[in-house]
Amino acid sequence: MTTAQAHPNIALVKYWGKQERSGNFPATPNLSITLAGLTTTTNISKAARDTFVLNGAPADDPKLWRWLKTLRGSFDIPPLEIHSSNDFPTSAGLASSASGFAALITAINALCELGLNEATCSQWARIGSASAARSIYGGFVALTGPLWLAVPIAKKDHWALEVVVAITSTDAKNVSSGEGMERSRLTSSFYSAWLRDAEADFTAASDAIGIKDFTALSAVAELSCLKMHSVMLTSQPTLSYWTPASITCMDRVRSLRSSGHNVFFTVDAGPQIKAVCLSASADAVASALGDVPGVIKIIRSHLGDGARVIE
Ligand code: DP6
Repeated sequence: MTTAQAHPNIALVKYWGKQERSGNFPATPNLSITLAGLTTTTNISKAARDTFVLNGAPADDPKLWRWLKTLRGSFDIPPLEIHSSNDFPTSAGLASSASGFAALITAINALCELGLNEATCSQWARIGSASAARSIYGGFVALTGPLWLAVPIAKKDHWALEVVVAITSTDAKNVSSGEGMERSRLTSSFYSAWLRDAEADFTAASDAIGIKDFTALSAVAELSCLKMHSVMLTSQPTLSYWTPASITCMDRVRSLRSSGHNVFFTVDAGPQIKAVCLSASADAVASALGDVPGVIKIIRSHLGDGARVIE
């Protein structure tokens, strides 16, 4: 048996939309931070047939089976018993597929002695779920062309950011990211503007991280998030992932910022708000978001490490 762990990541410059070729390539460069405070633990062993148990219950995940079939096209991998568990809500906009595929390829690489380096693990994780490519690494991570392998751009201790996650619903989302982004590509008239701006946003965010310019990173990251949600909202049928509490949390973050705190928000394909802040503001942010009616839980996190085998 082999056990691996990986953390979800949150994108500061978002990925929303794929290239029109097989292999699950993002249409635009994107950039994330890996979160220590949320963890996926996956253990695998050789078995008589493939089985998947997610958070203690047998699960059927067509995306996982398709990915394993593709992997077996390149490597000799026996049937596997896979047990995966998340210490946070699954499929609710907290990037469980990112940590899930990152932990799984890391465990398979070890158990089956594939000898893959991190870059190749990142490539295989991307084929499963593009954001998973980023969870192979810790700290600040870019996923960009031409190779579309994740690349660590700064270590976690380069800049001691903290993330306050406000959980406003633990329901699984009803439209998956993959399905939603394809809908956006085909139907949102904002999609072309989204593609046009992405490279500049990516460069601005990378530069801001390099020189630890929080104001510049706040501006570009919040705007990237809001542009992505504008594309989602203008898709047909619309993709509306927020709850009333999500909107109140965004307003709270703006007023915290007006009162001098270093904080910005980002939101993925779900209703949870991730407030990224400097340590000096983390207590104030956690308490302000914890007071919002409809916020069920607050999770605080520092930046974390990449995927690794633990036993
Ligand atoms: C909104 O990586 O889950 O979280 O590649 O289809 O599995 P697939 O999509 P996925 O999409 C993540 C979308 C996002 C933004 C981001 O993480 O960059």
